Amino acid sequence: MIPDHFKQDLLNRVDIVDVVSRYVKLKKAGANFQGLCPFHNEKSPSFSVSPAKQFYHCFGCSAHGNAIGFLMAYASMGYVDAIKELAAGCGMTVPEEPRSAQALQRYERETDLSAVLERAMDFYREQLKHAPQAIAYLKARGLTGEIAARFRMGYAPDDWQPLKAVFPEYEQASLVEAGLVVENEGKRYDRFRGRVMFPIFNQRGAPIGFGGRVIGSGEPKYLNSPETVLFEKGRELYGLSQANSAIRQANRVLVVEGYMDVVALAQHGVSYAVATLGTATTAIHIQKLLRLSDEIVFAFDGDNAGRKAAWRALETSLPFSVDHKPMRFLFLPQGHDPDSYVREFGTEAFEREVRAAQPLSTFLVGELRAQSNPDTAEGRSRLLVLAKPHLKNVAAPALRLQLLKAVAELARVSQEEAEELLEIRPVATTASRYVRAAPPRVAAPGVTSPEMSLLRCVLAQPALVERLEDELMDATLPETEALLALRQRVADMGIESWSVLYDVFQGTAHEAVLVRAQMASDELGLLATDAAQQFEQSLLSLRIRAIHAEIEHLKREVVGRPELGVELARCTRELAQLKGQRI
Ligand code: UTP
Ligand code: MN
Repeated sequence: MIPDHFKQDLLNRVDIVDVVSRYVKLKKAGANFQGLCPFHNEKSPSFSVSPAKQFYHCFGCSAHGNAIGFLMAYASMGYVDAIKELAAGCGMTVPEEPRSAQALQRYERETDLSAVLERAMDFYREQLKHAPQAIAYLKARGLTGEIAARFRMGYAPDDWQPLKAVFPEYEQASLVEAGLVVENEGKRYDRFRGRVMFPIFNQRGAPIGFGGRVIGSGEPKYLNSPETVLFEKGRELYGLSQANSAIRQANRVLVVEGYMDVVALAQHGVSYAVATLGTATTAIHIQKLLRLSDEIVFAFDGDNAGRKAAWRALETSLPFSVDHKPMRFLFLPQGHDPDSYVREFGTEAFEREVRAAQPLSTFLVGELRAQSNPDTAEGRSRLLVLAKPHLKNVAAPALRLQLLKAVAELARVSQEEAEELLEIRPVATTASRYVRAAPPRVAAPGVTSPEMSLLRCVLAQPALVERLEDELMDATLPETEALLALRQRVADMGIESWSVLYDVFQGTAHEAVLVRAQMASDELGLLATDAAQQFEQSLLSLRIRAIHAEIEHLKREVVGRPELGVELARCTRELAQLKGQRI
């Protein structure tokens, strides 16, 4: 464990511009530095490094982080190694605080399990060479030795304890912990027997689990490693470590359902495919993939189950949508999966299907239409009701607007009426006077809520958190939650720099909204000195919003209770007075 105070000291001393410059050519651009993004393919620079914030961000692929994060992402260093490297660069030594007994135990268990899985993988690979029926099976499925080797495929012999050959201490606990051996009524035997083995790797290329397929028919068709300390199905994607560079090159990733789909596609030269591991696509999967490329194509079988799975993937992806990163859905003809399709019709035909895949908007609107009946007034109302939760979830502002227009047209209402009914805030333009030159390829940072504006101000001038007025803020907004968390942090630790705050909130529910606010305040060139004034104006907007709500309420009530008229008049005067304070 590295003590917090050391990390904070380090982050305050390190200069991220120096660190990044070692790997990426940077040029000064205004207050920031710019270069070609090292995390995706591009020809014009959208990668920006801010010395003031000690933060990097790519407007193209949304990669972002502080100096520690940069080394982890770019140089594939672990967290501790990245800190050591940075410390060495500024003459600091990482204090060797004794690991907690628990942390030490976990660390030892993980390295132990990793070694166990590696050894098992080598064993299975060796066994494949001596298993003619397994080789024949793979050949019959159209795979060459080269592809089998690239995916480190193997074979688990059809015995009770094949792994005993490489683990003489077959009783050791780590074999069970790694998911390789099962224990039943005091007897131990191998989990994988008589199966073709697909090792699953993490992003660093270390094996973390296996999938095993029966040869021919049998139940279950695939057997998978259980979840272990190393292997969480909702985080991992099969084939990612092999597909990594092809994904960056194609600037596209294809998400399929099966191990065989990934391998067969690679066999046919489509190397940018990965598979979920028998689970639905998770938010973590999507975030991971959006970091690697600008386009995600989800491929599903054309049957009912496929459409259901596609719809779930769509629902999961809406909150992560980015305007310049389209997501699409490919439905193969009934009875086909990517493996069978590419083998029957070839690479060209498959890639044509990929290019023709439905955009998310087409799929979403099409499903909504299918589930309602826009020919009747009732059907059109139903369409609006069905659309509401999905449209509210769309994070990409331009896409949300397009969807809103499409739904409004189908439901035969105006855009304003749809906004009102679906409770979607129109894109406001109040911050436009701060906007300088438009940054490349990023959606305009429309102020979505006064709370968001408060958050930006607080990031530019942290002392402002003291002036928040809780009862005015909408507690359900993520920006409000982030503001309250920041205030707590300031109360506990005093004022800290952005790169330290980022480190603290990284991986929490507040990370996304904090990064969004930080980027916006940076783009708007919001200076600490302007922040106070902007903050007051946002508080004013909140007060106006509150008094508006009060007036609406009174207007409804006053019909039956005329005595409220006095109060209504007072509120109306106050509203006028507050509006007068706007600049
Ligand atoms: P499918 O049943 O679509 O199999 O399962 P497939 O990929 O087409 O396999 P082949 O072509 O018959 O060899 C898709 C995925 O669902 C999981 C596996 O991850 C598989 O790749 N699955 C399927 C299991 O985990 N267990 C099973 O018994 C079946
Ligand atoms: Mn198949």
